[in-house]
Amino acid sequence: MDQYTLPDMPYDYGELAPHINAEIMELHHSKHHKAYVDGANTAMDKLSESRVQRDFSTVNMLEKNLAFNLGGHLNHTVFWNNMSPDGGGEPEGALKTALDTHFGGFDAFREQFTASALGIQGSGWSILAWDTLGQRPYICQLYDHQGNLPTGQVPLLMIDMWEHAFYLQYRNVKPDYVKAWWEVVNWQDVAARFEGASRTQGLITP
Ligand SMILES: [Fe+2]
Repeated sequence: MDQYTLPDMPYDYGELAPHINAEIMELHHSKHHKAYVDGANTAMDKLSESRVQRDFSTVNMLEKNLAFNLGGHLNHTVFWNNMSPDGGGEPEGALKTALDTHFGGFDAFREQFTASALGIQGSGWSILAWDTLGQRPYICQLYDHQGNLPTGQVPLLMIDMWEHAFYLQYRNVKPDYVKAWWEVVNWQDVAARFEGASRTQGLITP
């Protein structure tokens, strides 16, 4: 079975400073993300072993571990690419039009996304997602790495609101972290994900 692997970062750990410092980025990628990759592989291996042994007594725990760790791996993979040292500003083109249509403009979108991120109770993410059934973008909170999200959603833009994402630099002042994060958002990456996702018509049909 193919193993999940930790992807290389698209930029150096220090390149998002001063918005997000190198110490956070290095720990976040090389330790936290790595642990999710390892956890997903371990869960997959143990599920494979269960099938060989025909012993599914631990299937609940293993499938929960898989959802959590694979969620962590997926989320961070999107998150690194959602940011860039050349980020910030506002989206253009079809993504801008979609935000205008579905959120009443970029400012309203950004305010809702910020409120969503700051409102997360405990650990989680805020996501701009593409709903493959309704064929539209919307914002939702993701709890831990896998909770509160319907199936058939494609993440376009994600902010990590786990304390490991900001605490070493911003302590408990989450609004400052979110404000700084907007300065590194890679709108080209978000637009590419939007264009890819919006071509998924028919993936989930009524
Ligand atoms: Fe994280």
